[in-house]
Order: sequence, then C-alpha cells, then structure tokens
Amino acid sequence: MSKILITGAAGFIGSQLAYRLWKDGESVVLVDNFSYGSEDNLIFDEHDFREEIHHKDIRDLDFMDSLFEKEKFDYVYHIAGITPLPDCQNHPVDAVDVNVRGTVIILDLIRKYGVKKMVFASTSAVYENNKDFPSVETHVEKPSLFYPSTKYTAEQYCKAYWDAYHIPIVCLRFANVFGPHIDCLRTQPPVMGYIIREFMKGNAPVLHSDGEQKRDFIFVDDLIDLAILVLQSEEYDTVNVSTQTTVTINEITRIIAEKLGTTDIKPEYAETSHYWYRYPELYAKPYPISSQLMENEVLKYTCLSNEHAKEKYGWSPKTSLEEGIAKTVEFSAEVLKKAGIGV
Ligand SMILES: NC(=O)c1ccc[n+]([C@@H]2O[C@H](COP(=O)([O-])OP(=O)(O)OC[C@H]3O[C@@H](n4cnc5c(N)ncnc54)[C@H](O)[C@@H]3O)[C@@H](O)[C@H]2O)c1
Repeated sequence: MSKILITGAAGFIGSQLAYRLWKDGESVVLVDNFSYGSEDNLIFDEHDFREEIHHKDIRDLDFMDSLFEKEKFDYVYHIAGITPLPDCQNHPVDAVDVNVRGTVIILDLIRKYGVKKMVFASTSAVYENNKDFPSVETHVEKPSLFYPSTKYTAEQYCKAYWDAYHIPIVCLRFANVFGPHIDCLRTQPPVMGYIIREFMKGNAPVLHSDGEQKRDFIFVDDLIDLAILVLQSEEYDTVNVSTQTTVTINEITRIIAEKLGTTDIKPEYAETSHYWYRYPELYAKPYPISSQLMENEVLKYTCLSNEHAKEKYGWSPKTSLEEGIAKTVEFSAEVLKKAGIGV
C-alpha cells in the first residue's frame, strides 16, 4: 500500500482519482480549499471522504510542510488549480499564485521530504496556438491566454526540478475531460456541464459561432487509468491524455438532448466575441479583451496525439463518446435536481 497525496481532491477529477486509488487499496490523503470543489464530490457508493479531507489551501506553507512531514508520501498527484479560463483571465494574480506558485510549493516539499514521484495535471490548452494536428507533446507554440500560460509555466518548473534534482515527474496534458462529477453549477462550467444545465432548466444552450468547432474529449475513467499507469515512469515525461478523435459541439449537444429527452429545445448561436459575456470586466475599456483572441479560443480545433501514451504506457481509451455522455448526463441530472434545477 502506498501513501498518496491528492491536491484538488474535492474537484471533478481529483475526487474520482481519490476514489479509484482508495478502491485499489492505496492510502490517500486529500487536500482542497473548496474554492471550486464541493463536498458532494466526496460521497461515493462505498466511501465518504468528507470527514477526512483537509480543508486547506496548498499555499498554506506551515500546514503543507507539516502534512508532508507527518504523512511521508510515496506519490503526489497535484491536481489543484484554478481551471476556468475566464477566471484566470479575470484574476491573473490569483491564477499565477495558485497554478504556478502553488505548484512550486508542492515541488519543493516533494524535494524536501523525498517523495518518489509527482503527477501534474496540465492541459491541452497549452496547444492553443499550435497549427499542426494531432498535437504532439514535443511541440508547443507558446500560449496566449492566461490559464494555459500558467500551466505551461508550471510544467517548466516541473522540468526544472527534474533537471536539478532528478525527481521523476509526469505532466499529463488532459484534453477536454467529461464524466460524472463534471461541474454544472459554476459561472462558466465546462461545455458539457453547461449544455446539460441549460437543457435541465428548459433553456436553449447558447453556443458560440456555428457549433461546428471540433474538440477532443476524454472520459474521466480513461484518464484515471493513465494517471495510474504513469507512476511506472522513472523520469520526466509529458503525456497527452486524449482520444485523438474529434467531435463537434453540435454533435455533443445533440447526444445530450437525446439522453435528456429535450430534443425539442434547439441551441441558439451567438457571436464569438461574446463568449465570456458572463465576465463583463474582461470587456471593460480602455483595454477590452482582444476579439481576435476570443475568436481563436471559440473556433479552436483540438486533437491531441495519444501515440506516446499508447506506446510507452500501453494505454488506450476504452469509453465511447455515447457511453460516456450517458453516464455524465445521468449523474449531472441528479446533481442539478438536488440544486433545485430540473425539468
Ligand atoms: N476538466 C478538464 O477538462 C481539464 C482539462 C485540462 C486540465 N485540467 C486540469 O485538471 C485539474 C483538475 O480539473 P477539474 O476539472 O477537476 O477542476 P476542478 O475545478 O473541479 O478541481 C480543481 C480543484 O482544485 C481546488 N483548488 C483550487 N485552488 C486550490 C488551492 N489554492 N488549494 C487547494 N485546492 C485548490 C478547487 O477547489 C477544486 O476542487 C486542474 O488542475 C485543471 O487545470 C482539467
């Protein structure tokens, strides 16, 4: 049995990783400051983590140092982060402080207490300016938006800790992740969470541009399989976590509507420049956000090569899009009903 720290464990991915490792017989220690996570994410069929999670910020140096000293972790999954892109864009100092400084705090504790390995949650968003597809781990055109900039910078620190101290670290670049526990309630949920919520409210989801933009989506259980396999790595590695296939937002919307029985509600289409309209501060003069940058983000094509994950770790995704969406819709509908939202 290994002792494993999971930061960001009350969030979508961290909570499910915790449950899976716990079911596998590992000893997991969870930390989350609940800035985005929720207690509901911690309740599973066979276990409830609510009493044992530490309600703490990863930047609380005294607490984190004493936790590392006491627990003597074998492995760390550093999953905590400020994820919504417009939140990072709107609060850049916080984004850098959590996503970059927070990562360096964890790296330094790993070094100090001799943790064997770290797995870091990075993102396909680092490829936002790439033009060659499928995107490969060895080629990143430096990103422009703040969220991927923070994650890319954090990756550079992971590499710097490997170069300086030879601490094995794997940076996983997740494509768009979906599955049970996806957030449906935050101001700007991930696209599937948003579409499910709007249909459940009886509203037409608003899609930006014509909905024909294509993205690479990965089901959370497949991601977790790979996150566990990469613990084999004895070196520094960067690994895409993707299906290497794409689907349009219109197709996603159609499947969700079919699962929810809301095919009579048709999506509405809006200007790309209004994509982050829920964040009016981003459009404030004298320096409103670049409409070109917004357009690039809305129309962005994502397709990540998963050859490296297949070849080095013998992994391949197993869940079909239809099956994954069915599970996501079923779980999210319950969450929304509990929050008083339901058709
Ligand atoms: N969901 C995706 O599609 C996706 C894609 C690419 C990368 N990622 C990355 O994967 C990770 C997990 O994503 P998610 O979808 O589960 O997001 P999430 O927002 O559901 O989970 C992140 C968790 O981190 C916690 N957190 C934030 N700041 C913290 C701090 N200072 N101290 C302690 N906890 C803190 C939040 O409360 C939240 O519970 C993130 O780092 C994200 O950037 C996610």
